[in-house]
Amino acid sequence: MTDKIRWGILSTARIAENQVIPAIHDSSNGVVAAVGSRDLEKGKRYAERNKIPQVYGSYEELIAAPDIDAIYIPLPNGLHAEWSIKCAEGGKHVLCEKPLANDAPQAQHMADVFKQRDLLLAEAFMYRFHPQIQKVKQMIAEGALGTVNMAQATFSFPIGNEDDVRLNKELAGGALMDIGCYCVSITRYLFGEEPAEVEAFAEFGARSGVDERMVGIMRFPSGAMSHFDCSFRTHFAQTFELRGTQGRIYLERAYVPLRQDANADTYVRYWKGNDYQEIKVDKVNHYVLMVEDFADSLLNKRAPKFPIEESIAQMHTIDMLYASVGRQ
Ligand SMILES: NC(=O)c1ccc[n+]([C@@H]2O[C@H](COP(=O)([O-])OP(=O)(O)OC[C@H]3O[C@@H](n4cnc5c(N)ncnc54)[C@H](OP(=O)(O)O)[C@@H]3O)[C@@H](O)[C@H]2O)c1
Repeated sequence: MTDKIRWGILSTARIAENQVIPAIHDSSNGVVAAVGSRDLEKGKRYAERNKIPQVYGSYEELIAAPDIDAIYIPLPNGLHAEWSIKCAEGGKHVLCEKPLANDAPQAQHMADVFKQRDLLLAEAFMYRFHPQIQKVKQMIAEGALGTVNMAQATFSFPIGNEDDVRLNKELAGGALMDIGCYCVSITRYLFGEEPAEVEAFAEFGARSGVDERMVGIMRFPSGAMSHFDCSFRTHFAQTFELRGTQGRIYLERAYVPLRQDANADTYVRYWKGNDYQEIKVDKVNHYVLMVEDFADSLLNKRAPKFPIEESIAQMHTIDMLYASVGRQ
C-alpha cells in the first residue's frame, strides 16, 4: 500500500456505477484498480464506461488479485456476508453495502472473521458522513433541542421493476432491509442509544413475499420514542424530523441529499419557540467522504469513523423489527 489504496469493485452494480466508483475517482486517497463480474463481457463494458483498468470474469479472481488492497461489495443484500467473508479469506479489506448482513448473528460472525485476520470491515452507510447529519449531531450535543425525545423518519419510493433484487426474498430484499434501515440507523445514531422495545406492522407482497411497506415504533432506554415508515409502493420521500423539549429539526433529504439536484443547497431546518432558521450546510459528496474515511483508516492505521459494532447493533434492531412482524 502506498499513499493511495487500490480498490476492487465486486460486481457491476448500479450503485457502484452511479455513486461509489465516481466517488473513488474523486477521492484523494484511492484508485479504482479492477472490477470483477460473473460475466466477463458485461464486466468489460462496465470497466470501459467507468474507466477501470482491469477486469476479471469472476469474483474469485478479483479477490485473488495481489495488487488489490480493498474491495467494495455492492451485491444484493443476501450475498453480503458470504462474499465479505470470502474477501477476508483472500486477505482483502472490505467496504460492504448496507445492510451489512441478513441478521445480527451473521453480522457478528463477519466482524469476528475480519478481526481474526486483522482486516478492516465497514458498512457503506454513506448518509452518516454528510455534514447535515454531523450538524444535527452537534446541535443535539449543544442542547439546541433541549432534551431530545421524539423522532420521525420516512424513506419511500415506488419501485419501478417487479424483478428488482429489492423484491427478492432469497436475496434478503424488503423495504426495511433496503430503505427502512436508514430510518432505523439515523434514529439510533442521533439518539445515541439502542432501542429497548420495538413494534411494527408490515405489508408483505403477494408475489415477492418481502415486506413492501412497513411502519415501526421504537422506545429507547432514556424514554425517547420514534416512529418510522418505509415503502416500495409509495411516493418518493426521505425525511427526518427530530424534536426535543425546546426545539425541532427537519431534514427534507435526510439520506441522499445529492440526488435532489447537484446544485441545490442543503439546509437543516430548525425551530425554537417562534424562531426559525435555515442552516445551510456544506455542499459535499458524502460518498467521497465515506471512501476517504475507509482508505485513511487503512493508510494511517486508525479506526474508521463508524466502527463495525455499530453495524451489528443496527442489524440487531432490524432483527427485532422483523420479529415483531413475524418474518422468519
Ligand atoms: N448506499 C447507497 O446509496 C445505496 C443505493 C442503492 C443500493 N445500495 C445497496 O447496494 C447493493 C446493490 O444495489 P444495486 O441496486 O446497485 O444492485 P444491482 O444494480 O442489482 O447490482 C447488483 C449486482 O450484484 C451482482 N449479482 C450477483 N449475484 C446476483 C444475483 N443473484 N442477482 C442479481 N445480481 C447479482 C450483479 O453483478 P455481476 O452480474 O456483474 O456479477 C449485479 O450487477 C444493495 O445491497 C443495496 O442495498 C446502496
